[in-house]
Amino acid sequence: MPTLDFRGKRHIYAHHFAVPHRPLVPDADKSVGGCPDDDNLIIHGDNLDALKALLPRYADRVKCIYIDPPYNTGNEGWVYNDNVNAPLQRTWLKENGFVDTEDLLRHDKWLCMIWPRLQLLKELLAEDGVIFVSIDDNEFHHLRMLMDEIFGEENFIANFVWEGTGKNDARFVSVGHDYVMCFSKDRERLRLNGARWRALKQGIDEINKVAQSAWQRHDGDSTAASDELQEWFGSLDKKHKSYAHRHYRWVDERGVYFAGDISWPGGGGPDYEILHPVTKKPVKVPARGWVFPDRAKMVEAVKEGRVHFGPDESSVPNLKRYLADTDSQVLASVFYQDRRAAHKDLVRIMPEKKFDYPKDERVIRRLLEIVTSGTDVILDSFAGSGTTGQAVLALNKQDGGNRKFTLVECEDYAHSITAERVRRVIAGVPDAKDPDLREGLGGSFTYCTLGEPVTSWSMLDGENLPSYEALAAWLTHTATGRSTPSSEPVPLDDNGLIHRDKKRNRNYYLFYQPDMDWLKSRESMFDIYLADAISKSCNKTGAQAVVFAAGKFMSQDDLIDMNISFSQLPWAIQREDQV
Ligand SMILES: C[S@@+](CC[C@H](N)C(=O)[O-])C[C@H]1O[C@@H](n2cnc3c(N)ncnc32)[C@H](O)[C@@H]1O
Repeated sequence: MPTLDFRGKRHIYAHHFAVPHRPLVPDADKSVGGCPDDDNLIIHGDNLDALKALLPRYADRVKCIYIDPPYNTGNEGWVYNDNVNAPLQRTWLKENGFVDTEDLLRHDKWLCMIWPRLQLLKELLAEDGVIFVSIDDNEFHHLRMLMDEIFGEENFIANFVWEGTGKNDARFVSVGHDYVMCFSKDRERLRLNGARWRALKQGIDEINKVAQSAWQRHDGDSTAASDELQEWFGSLDKKHKSYAHRHYRWVDERGVYFAGDISWPGGGGPDYEILHPVTKKPVKVPARGWVFPDRAKMVEAVKEGRVHFGPDESSVPNLKRYLADTDSQVLASVFYQDRRAAHKDLVRIMPEKKFDYPKDERVIRRLLEIVTSGTDVILDSFAGSGTTGQAVLALNKQDGGNRKFTLVECEDYAHSITAERVRRVIAGVPDAKDPDLREGLGGSFTYCTLGEPVTSWSMLDGENLPSYEALAAWLTHTATGRSTPSSEPVPLDDNGLIHRDKKRNRNYYLFYQPDMDWLKSRESMFDIYLADAISKSCNKTGAQAVVFAAGKFMSQDDLIDMNISFSQLPWAIQREDQV
């Protein structure tokens, strides 16, 4: 397969391994809710560090990634300053560092920036996960080659073309679109899981909402609720997305329907007597005969409430065709959504703030709707104004889901814009058009920054000793490549069990306290008493034990006899290639 070469590639090829782990540090004052363990996250920091920090928690667990990185137009003021340890590469970094149109290395820099981030994103993505990347013609062709190389071209799903609005003053062609590139982690796995992506047709959601509230307001009175729905359709502009579905004008306890034909296709159908439920007189029979071959089936349909009768026996009844049976469709790769609408929406939420080029929440929500459900985790590591956070909360409110989002933003506006938008949509936006948003989407999030890097050296000098939980999560990840759900308490037993790898039949133990005096003392040494307890526990399943501790009072031979492998801190935190 051809691959893309660019300046700096060999320096950044494995850079994601060298990025040190930095723990997430919650800031309760900037959060909404009580910062529970499995909360939504908004992380203020460089996403290279943040993605690394997320590995112990989310490796292999993120169902959907949406990112909208700088397009590299030359006007965005982004800076390439990753701390790559290659002196040659460091000479690229200009004094002010902005990557502008004059910068002859601008494509190389963008590729160096995105490569390690894509590598980490791939590690975070679940086996049945999907990544969407917004991009335009500046880097589209480069990105495609990188994605092929990192994710595998066999995992390519589609490039969506998002048509917004063009400008009439272009010299040659008015380019009014950009792209959303979509790859899966494992397309074959998606196929085997039986994934079939379907999205709610546009405008359906609103019809259901109006019908539902009419049904509730009129206490289950079908005629009154249907009248209200019809009145609402009558008030719509022809361009409104719901307008095309205005024949779905009736409501009953099952939902919204239209009164469809009940006659035998082509004519010559049976003719039997059916009584009107109110007048009790025989109703008019359709000219082509009934669609049901025998009367018993028709009576059953009437009993089930699937037949729509007119006010009396003089009109032919109809068959109810429910909106829910035809409300979804396969996604088209080309779609239109005016770009200006997203900006107007954002101004309604935060009139006093300025953020250029936010993405449209409805589009992101639609993408999330087709690939996520339940408690799936969604990640946006170029969060900007926090559109993805809003989309997740709106979708949860729409379908009763409990999806979780993680947003990462490096600029100082992570608090004042990214998080502030999410705070406001949680609480409710008085000027919003959407009733759900007006009322408030609900939810919570934990705002985090990134702590000091956890390295062997920082542990040796006792500065920034990580908590037991943070070290356990990191060691589990480095040793197994797996993540530990944040809700799982550690240690799992009195011997310091931090992870059971059932596949390899290996148990991991951590003997540690974040206290330099303790670490220097004899107490921190792994000894025969602990080894004995661990060995007894592991013997029950024949599991091998891996023990992380600062030192040991045991010979290697004894450890081998007891099927224990010893890994010394702090060196064990250095990530080797995963086992
Ligand atoms: C194009 S904007 C994203 C806009 C977003 N989709 C929205 O709807 O508001 C890109 C964002 O990524 C942020 N960003 C760029 N490089 C980053 C990095 N290394 N770490 C974290 N955020 C970064 C920028 O500050 C900017 O806010």
